Amino acid sequence: MTALTRLTLTDFRNYERLTLVLDGRPVCLYGSNGAGKTNLLEAISQFGPGRGLRAAQLAEMTRHGAAGGWTISGVLDGEQKIGIALEGAGPAKRSVRIDGAPASPGDLAERMRLIWLTPTMDGVFRGGASERRRFFDRLVMAHQPSHGGASTRYEKALAERNALLERGHVDPAWADAIEARLAEAGAEIAVNRALVLAELQAAIDARPEGHFPKADLSLEGEAEAAALQGEDFRAIFDLLVDAYRNGRRRDIGAGRTLSGPHRSDLGVIHRPSGAPAGEASTGQQKALLIGLVLASAGALSVNGEGPAPLLLLDEAAAHLDPDRRTALFGELAALNGQAWLTGTDAYLFETFGTQAQRVRVESCSAVVEA
Ligand SMILES: Nc1ncnc2c1ncn2[C@@H]1O[C@H](COP(=O)(O)OP(=O)(O)O)[C@@H](O)[C@H]1O
Ligand SMILES: [Mg+2]
Repeated sequence: MTALTRLTLTDFRNYERLTLVLDGRPVCLYGSNGAGKTNLLEAISQFGPGRGLRAAQLAEMTRHGAAGGWTISGVLDGEQKIGIALEGAGPAKRSVRIDGAPASPGDLAERMRLIWLTPTMDGVFRGGASERRRFFDRLVMAHQPSHGGASTRYEKALAERNALLERGHVDPAWADAIEARLAEAGAEIAVNRALVLAELQAAIDARPEGHFPKADLSLEGEAEAAALQGEDFRAIFDLLVDAYRNGRRRDIGAGRTLSGPHRSDLGVIHRPSGAPAGEASTGQQKALLIGLVLASAGALSVNGEGPAPLLLLDEAAAHLDPDRRTALFGELAALNGQAWLTGTDAYLFETFGTQAQRVRVESCSAVVEA
């Protein structure tokens, strides 16, 4: 089991100071619009790599009117203390602590994995490739904690190459060096994506038929295709090095890098209809997304190579019919990682019965009810 048994926020968003004491069951946050439910999920999401479920700037999350920065601390499974803080002065930087000692985000990633689903992801199948890529890369990070670091290194090298291209004249030796770094991070990204795609597809296929439709996943991108075919890291690295070098003239014309894993896309077919997920109804897309997230959480809960993931589901329950809702609750209660759900009304969570804890969120505070 992986669960937050205690969560304390100070000066985070609308919370001056808040402590929740929990017992590991799924947590249902209910309260009116603007009460601070999503803020709570956002706070938990800070324990993961990146900028959390709103992709907000660090300082933006500081409570208006607070004197310093914010802190979020928690207790995992009743024993391990984890904390993150935005220090008040100086450049915005997060600090991480585990059991009181300074630690790195990577240390945190070894103890806690996170998956989330928010209403802003509803359009992911209809939207552009970059949204789908971001959605999928989030899942990849939960499965492969090293993916975050590889993505950061890739982005950095990509920015350097683009800066070079924009200048219009490219020194070949300099470009070679940058492209080697780009290809190295890119190959790692492609290998991670291919690995997780296969893992996720297997988890989907193993799921019972039921309320959440299955998806058939694919990856569009040369490096990912090679990885899926079983090419090793070196071969994918070589492939990318060649692609960047051969694309230089074209990329100088465009002023940016037009090929590589930063252009890849996730293909999703709604299996029951055989049609691309983007063509499915809004409700079907939502159910498909939930199915994907449950498959991911299920796979991470059983493979035993790390902590089971915490699952943050913002406003997911309200859009489901009662049967689907009950099915979702059943699955969440059976997971090894704690689920956090939000909704405007307590009745949405009724069929959970005593399998979940309810928390009333109201005017900058939250109270555990049962
Ligand atoms: N930095 C901040 N300081 C204080 N309040 C904030 C800050 N950021 C957002 N809020 C407040 O948080 C509330 C929204 O909370 P949210 O968690 O999105 O609500 P909901 O319960 O509907 O999910 C708004 O009232 C907003 O004004
Ligand atoms: Mg909300």
